[in-house]
Amino acid sequence: MTTAPTPTPTPTSAPVLEAKGLVKVFGRVVGLNDVDLTLYPGEVLAVIGDNGAGKSTLIKCLSGALVPDQGSILVDGSEVNFKRPQDAREAGIETVYQTLAVAPALDIASNLFLAREIRRKGVLGSVFRMLDTGEMKRQAADHIKRLGISTLQNINQAVETLSGGQRQSVAVARAGAFGGRVVILDEPTAALGVRETGQVLKLVRDLRDQGLGVILISHNMPNVFDVADRIHIQRLGGCAGVITPQSHSMEDAVAIMTGAKKLVAEAR
Ligand SMILES: Nc1ncnc2c1ncn2[C@@H]1O[C@H](COP(=O)(O)OP(=O)(O)OP(=O)(O)O)[C@@H](O)[C@H]1O
Ligand SMILES: [Mg+2]
Repeated sequence: MTTAPTPTPTPTSAPVLEAKGLVKVFGRVVGLNDVDLTLYPGEVLAVIGDNGAGKSTLIKCLSGALVPDQGSILVDGSEVNFKRPQDAREAGIETVYQTLAVAPALDIASNLFLAREIRRKGVLGSVFRMLDTGEMKRQAADHIKRLGISTLQNINQAVETLSGGQRQSVAVARAGAFGGRVVILDEPTAALGVRETGQVLKLVRDLRDQGLGVILISHNMPNVFDVADRIHIQRLGGCAGVITPQSHSMEDAVAIMTGAKKLVAEAR
């Protein structure tokens, strides 16, 4: 059985991130089998697929956490070779991994600046490595305000005292504050309640509206259809197609994901 082809969207700009022919093998398990992905600035690209379909492996390759065996990755049209997450971060790709990436005992400002702390000016910073905590707090408050995370009231609050949704918001804010071009979120709302999920999805939209490309991995079809501009469907390590919420229904998406339906042509 096949479903209707997806109308090709007319992109208003060149892709910010592209993957071509990615292959990643773990011993005898094929994690990724010749996968292409295209992300435009100012869009939310959802990545869906069953457990083990290769979603996390795909975004780990894009974020420098894994080095693909074959294929190429391009940022703004130029090929990159990420060897570690820091390389991807320097290219403007920020990732929130499936396991929550915040340091619970630190406050919100420190979490936002983790691994990129601002030092004091002059020898105090360069020789004595002293942190400019005032400047970090000021910038953190700015980021939080810009991203509209209204539920975070006190920048000095330890992250361990925040609710699950607020914590996830800090992780997303961290990604959005410094990413610049691409934010990748692996199941950011999996453990969250309805209200908290709404907060994180709002942040995702805000990042998109600021012109960032957002990749959102999720098992939650209503969330995906609510927030995504395009949907990349992974199946058994390969890409089974790219659809949009306008071109296909949730039932279609699940059918393509499980192999019950095949897509005849795909969106770019
Ligand atoms: N480090 C690893 N070593 C061996 N096999 C791996 C490794 N990482 C992933 N795999 C395998 O690669 C395949 C794809 O895994 P991946 O984690 O990308 O799936 P996923 O789509 O993210 O699934 P989920 O929805 O459960 O998060 C699976 O069969 C998995 O067992
Ligand atoms: Mg995964």
